Amino acid sequence: MQLTGDQRAILDGARGSYLATCMRWLVEWGEAMGARRLIPCDNTHAILAAPNLMARGATPATLEAFAAGLRQASSQKTAAGCYCTIHTAFVTLDEVDVAQNDATEVRLQREVAAMAADAGFIPTFTCAPYLVGNVPLKGEICAWTESSAVVYANSILGARTTRHGSESAIAASLLGLVPEFGVLLDENRRGTLLVEVSATLETTTDWGALGYFAGRIAGLGIPVFHGVRRPTQDEAKQLCAALATSGGVTMCHIAGVTPEAPTLEAAFHGDVPQEPVAFTGRTLEATYASLRNHTGDEIDSVILGCPHASIREIAGIAALLKGKRVADGVRLWIDTARITKGGADAMGYTRTIEDAGGRILCDTCPTNMRIPARRIVTHGFKQAHYARGMVGAEVIVAATQACVRAAVAGRWMGD
Ligand code: F3S
Repeated sequence: MQLTGDQRAILDGARGSYLATCMRWLVEWGEAMGARRLIPCDNTHAILAAPNLMARGATPATLEAFAAGLRQASSQKTAAGCYCTIHTAFVTLDEVDVAQNDATEVRLQREVAAMAADAGFIPTFTCAPYLVGNVPLKGEICAWTESSAVVYANSILGARTTRHGSESAIAASLLGLVPEFGVLLDENRRGTLLVEVSATLETTTDWGALGYFAGRIAGLGIPVFHGVRRPTQDEAKQLCAALATSGGVTMCHIAGVTPEAPTLEAAFHGDVPQEPVAFTGRTLEATYASLRNHTGDEIDSVILGCPHASIREIAGIAALLKGKRVADGVRLWIDTARITKGGADAMGYTRTIEDAGGRILCDTCPTNMRIPARRIVTHGFKQAHYARGMVGAEVIVAATQACVRAAVAGRWMGD
């Protein structure tokens, strides 16, 4: 990779050992991916580097060692001109009484979060930063973690980001640089799979089904959706999350919606495939069925807000719950960013939801926390997919209305 004199000096330690390490991360990653140079980065969404370490088998000693390393680096600041936010803090569930709230881990997570804020990161603590102020413009070069948000940034906002991990996003935040490869380059943003949609997408979760179906087929490719209306922000959120769950998709195009794809021809850079994959009404039903694995109707968890709920979704859930009561023995959790919860508090939605026996949880994700559950109903294809794999729960993925109905009844009542 060609480095400038300044970049070479940083790599050689001119700005200290931590920035030299950051530079090495970017250079080695870039070289592995065929990048020729580093380019300026406008915007990052970095994940704190200690999410749920306990669930991955870390001990208090390894966590302390980890925090000591971070303290060493804590004099660093985010790069001038680069807008940096941070992702979900998975272990701040200590407001909820669950065994997963290990005191050491919670303390360390708080310490890391404070260091990040000192360094200049805006603590959004969400997997959906575009709902709470991190909304890059078309063409902005970003370094985002969280696969669902990456797809959203590329496809809905027209910004450009490859899929980042903790180290590369933190390095990009501190150095204001990213290696140039993948979807940062025009030629790698061309559609690779045409999905002709004839199914009627009625609910937000139906868009998740479309994404889950297409992600499986597209793999690392770029699906292009044709025949769909313009999604709402919440629908686009579900589509993008599901695409990155069943596949390794970094971006998609919705002809007429994706900023750089006003037409099908533009999405494929002129070369539209002759044989589309069909997403019919039957495919929609089959996609729901493919993920549901419940062997009975009694439920113990309803998880909404995956990706994190918007204020509009919370308003809708509050309206569905008004005057009702969540069944005994059922946990109804709505995950969101703390900024959004502030709005829900002000609007009275939180009170309505809590009066009904539900909870709004900030900064977290029950599945990534591996909160045990026996049978989960959720409106998120991503949540359902990972709850099966990471928690071992039985899952039912369904529209929000059906999820709330199940929470009140204490059992799955059908779509
Ligand atoms: Fe967010 Fe957790 Fe879903 S991180 S996208 S709520 S699986």
